[in-house]
Amino acid sequence: METPVAALRARLAAALGAIGEGDCAPQIAPAADRRFGDYQTNVAMVLAKPRRENPRKIAADLVARMEVADFCEPPEIAGAGFINFRLTPAHLGERVNAMAVDPRLGVPAAAAPRTIVVDFSAPNVAKPMHVGHIRSTILGDTLARVARFLGHRVTGDNHIGDWGTQFGKVIYGWKHFLDRAALESEPVTELVRLYRETNALGDRDSAVSDECRRELVLLQAGDPANLAIWEQCVALSWGEFEKMYTLLDVAFDERLGESFYNDRLAPLVERLLASGLAEISEGAACVFFRDNPALADKPCLIRKSDGGYLYATTDLATLEYREERWNPDAVWYVTGAPQALHFQQIFETARRMGIAADLRHVAFGSILGEDRRLMKTRSGDNVQLADLLGEAVVRAAAIVSEKSPGLPDAERAAIARAVGIGAVKYAELSQHRMTDYVFSWEKMLSFQGNTAPYLQNAHVRIRSIFRKLPEGDAALRGPVHPVEPAEMELARRLVLYGDTVPLILEDFRPNLLAAYLYELADAFHGFYEACPVLKSDGDTRASRLGLCGVTAAVLRHGLGLLGIGAPDRM
Ligand code: ARG
Repeated sequence: METPVAALRARLAAALGAIGEGDCAPQIAPAADRRFGDYQTNVAMVLAKPRRENPRKIAADLVARMEVADFCEPPEIAGAGFINFRLTPAHLGERVNAMAVDPRLGVPAAAAPRTIVVDFSAPNVAKPMHVGHIRSTILGDTLARVARFLGHRVTGDNHIGDWGTQFGKVIYGWKHFLDRAALESEPVTELVRLYRETNALGDRDSAVSDECRRELVLLQAGDPANLAIWEQCVALSWGEFEKMYTLLDVAFDERLGESFYNDRLAPLVERLLASGLAEISEGAACVFFRDNPALADKPCLIRKSDGGYLYATTDLATLEYREERWNPDAVWYVTGAPQALHFQQIFETARRMGIAADLRHVAFGSILGEDRRLMKTRSGDNVQLADLLGEAVVRAAAIVSEKSPGLPDAERAAIARAVGIGAVKYAELSQHRMTDYVFSWEKMLSFQGNTAPYLQNAHVRIRSIFRKLPEGDAALRGPVHPVEPAEMELARRLVLYGDTVPLILEDFRPNLLAAYLYELADAFHGFYEACPVLKSDGDTRASRLGLCGVTAAVLRHGLGLLGIGAPDRM
């Protein structure tokens, strides 16, 4: 069944054709104010100017020609010329019943599946991980999940920073003051310590900096001892990253770090020079964008005068490789807003290289501490993701133990994980990605308000209704025929699901799904208070159970797209 918006659009298109506006692509959106209807269009107002007509008259003409009686109440005209649509109760029931037997829950697959590379997470080996990596990991994973569900061919690639100038320092530190025991118990912390201490030494003593540069040159030249140290750094760091990914339930199809592209850098720069796309300026190879006002004075450096390559060079080589291997329609780079200029330069250079893929920088803002400044630990360091996730689970475990002391230990641990990790993810995903949001444990773990525990709890409530059913789970469910206002409201919310999920990818906004789920949970609570389920009987009971079943399925599915678990009890 097509979604309500698609169905309305088709009927509206026919009416538009009848008044000579067949080329017009009308907007249809869920109504802002539900008292006036379920959906509305402003198309009459859009057409008023070019047609030099009163928008209310155009609206009346369209309504007179629109045939929707099979699923809508007679459309109403409101305000300056909005047309409002309300689905009939019978049609709402039909749609909910269709969702009950549809594994896609009314969400259509994309009409034209695309090949998409999602570049996300990408922490750096032997460098402190910053909160930007948390946001990238959570956001990128959700976008990949949604795109996959919509039928796109998705490759999630973790472009880890496993090559770079930091290794000169780390290798120096490794050779001079490595603490083996620390390396074994907390490898990343030890690698970061080596990096930092060497850095501090180098600031005071230029002989140390020279040594670091030498170690780096040796590594780049393939010196076996330095390569072996580097390999251990990468393997140890990856081991730690993997623990987090397991905890977060985040997976990648590829893990092609920066080092993978080493051999491609030199020939790439030579080719760009030979083709005239790049030129030598003061000994360095650069791409100039003289005809692009935004970038005219911001050339992209691709080889330094000392012969070293840069972040940009690797990204261009990476993109070329992705073109060769996947020929993607789109590449999404889920990386913080401060990298905007870097990606503008990469995208512009790629365009000149003839790369046609739709390249997007999926940027995001910062996470702030409760003092509204960039989130740091008390000692002023970046917060370690592992610590943060660990604390989330511990805090959630305390809450779960208090609320449900009787649960078996293993189940309680699994629930604490779903609630704690879910809370952290939801705090991220319920915000517009560009928002700088305040990280607050109390807020994100609250059972009230727009939080993961609130949504998980709505799901738990429904599951507990079904557990109380003596006759068993499925037997007495549906068909749904909404009658009471609270039943209608819940049904309306449910049928919006199919039009909500695809919107996420339009501007990379999982927060639209979060807001939808929050309103759905609200509608469910309204229904639950107004309409007894187990204490009703006959068809009413079956219909209410049907509504409950589909609500639980949508909550679970929607949370799943956000990478958040929905336990049966909590
Ligand atoms: N490692 C980089 C950082 O920590 C992020 C890499 C993002 N992806 C890319 N293709 N540039 O900032």
